[in-house]
Amino acid sequence: MRPHGLEQNQPSERSRSFGQRTRVVGMSNSSSHPLRPADWWQDAVIYQVYPRSFADSNGTGLGDLKGIQGHLGDLKSLGVDAVWLSPFYPSPQNDAGYDVSDYTDVDPSFGVLADAEKLIFSAHELGLRIIVDLVPNHSSSEHRWFQEALASTPGSNARARYIFRDGLGEDGDIPPNNWESVFGGPAWTRITQADGSPGQWYLHLFDSSQPDFDWTNQEVWEHFDGVLRFWLDRGVDGFRVDVAHSLMKEPGLPDLSDAQLADRSPGAAKPFWDQDAVHDVYRHWSGILAEYGEDRILCAEAWVWPLERMARYVRPGEMHQAFNFAYLSAPWQPEALRDVIDESLKAFGDAGAPSTWVLSNHDVVRHTSRLALADQESIVPGGLGPNSPERPDPALATRRGRAATALMLALPGSAYLYQGEELGLPEVIDIPDALREDPTFHRTNGERYGRDGCRVPIPWVKDAPAFGFSPSRETWLPQPEVFGELARDQQEGDPSSTLELYKTLLQLRKEHALGTGQLSWQESADPQALRFQNGNVTVLCNFGNHPVALPDGKIIASSIWPAPSELAPDHTVWIKGH
Ligand code: GLC
Repeated sequence: MRPHGLEQNQPSERSRSFGQRTRVVGMSNSSSHPLRPADWWQDAVIYQVYPRSFADSNGTGLGDLKGIQGHLGDLKSLGVDAVWLSPFYPSPQNDAGYDVSDYTDVDPSFGVLADAEKLIFSAHELGLRIIVDLVPNHSSSEHRWFQEALASTPGSNARARYIFRDGLGEDGDIPPNNWESVFGGPAWTRITQADGSPGQWYLHLFDSSQPDFDWTNQEVWEHFDGVLRFWLDRGVDGFRVDVAHSLMKEPGLPDLSDAQLADRSPGAAKPFWDQDAVHDVYRHWSGILAEYGEDRILCAEAWVWPLERMARYVRPGEMHQAFNFAYLSAPWQPEALRDVIDESLKAFGDAGAPSTWVLSNHDVVRHTSRLALADQESIVPGGLGPNSPERPDPALATRRGRAATALMLALPGSAYLYQGEELGLPEVIDIPDALREDPTFHRTNGERYGRDGCRVPIPWVKDAPAFGFSPSRETWLPQPEVFGELARDQQEGDPSSTLELYKTLLQLRKEHALGTGQLSWQESADPQALRFQNGNVTVLCNFGNHPVALPDGKIIASSIWPAPSELAPDHTVWIKGH
């Protein structure tokens, strides 16, 4: 059976249908697969590149676009369909690039605009799609607009692009409401006027250097129309929309109740999350994407509960995908996993969209480490550090991480991978406080470690400076010793390695069209194991602590290598047939 995808076309045909963006809508591009190029995303495996930690071409210690360019072939050989790039735009980097000061250029530390154009072009030549990050909730405080707002007067058009309010109390020194920043501390900062006197307050749901736009202002809409078109004109295949559920705030900006203040879970209902009006933005953007053909996509980063609310982002005429954070947040436990899988397929299915699946990204503890903790739920987004109450056992972590991925990649829909998970990288726990960069760490005075532990530059070559990340020894966060053993060159070609497991899973997933398949649960021999069928592949996963007998059939993939004759604890197998 041939894998589907444009890479199956002849080179000339490929560049016609993809590189130059003329699509062959309505034509099946593979005899074995029903999807058309316009539907590529429905079962795509999309690999997240976090540019500052992927590959550094010039020795600054910070990754860059040329570094990514140099490894596109490695991503192709891994077997993914698309690459999502976290922000590489000009930014003071107070929140690792999610504080954008210019939406239509490249930060000099990552390269120049021509590097981005070349990267998009080369990826397309290889048959890889490119999705870029769009950060519409807030800009950097260094954005020209915010600087203009600071220099303008209350009530001016320049202030109206952001959320400025007078303070409460006689002197206006009490913030306009009691909202708190996601990173800790108040969500309002008072400005100092040119004459040195205190002025209005502005809202920032994240760091004080990330002022929120006012999305009731038409000018903001027009600005982002231009940003979308700018990158679509350069050939990007879509956008991952940062905090997609936060753009609209409840009118009047009401105070949080005590219960809302106490609930710091990412999906908690608050007057700045998931307001119905936010969907108007995505219906509008969907129209802009459609001008460029049917194959450009929007993916929502929306920490919204329950799944039915999340699925509203992918209704027809809105976005295409939403990260399934309910799945990411599920503990390593058979009932919990089965429930969230069922609920996801139902909620997204009812909205007419495929589900996505994701275990790791740049905001959460790497799943390899997370799933080996007794407390798997309260660490998002607290992070792990030297004084955390527990530390994952490395062997258990590796085993569970592999089993979890093998389970995820057998599910129908689209899957997101985060750079380094294909190497089985653990969360880095022992980062010295002085080197931590995440604003979460600093805004909570170290109470929450935050996200640096999953952002450490990844290893390519064991016996090279910075494990092949950088030609100098520089790395913006220190790499632990264990990254040497886990470097890509150590794993390549070794059938027991996590890298080869990922390659096998991705190839079989394509061969058996699991991404467009149907899941049906089957009775398993033990309540601690899950068993389901997708197409002609049977998948079993053991969450318990004793082995379970395997059904007959040929094992085509096993998260433990070599495959034992039984289903071992923390072990997933794919069996052909049944
Ligand atoms: C999203 C990003 C995160 C960032 C935040 C503010 O959650 O994934 O990294 O800090 O938005 O932009």
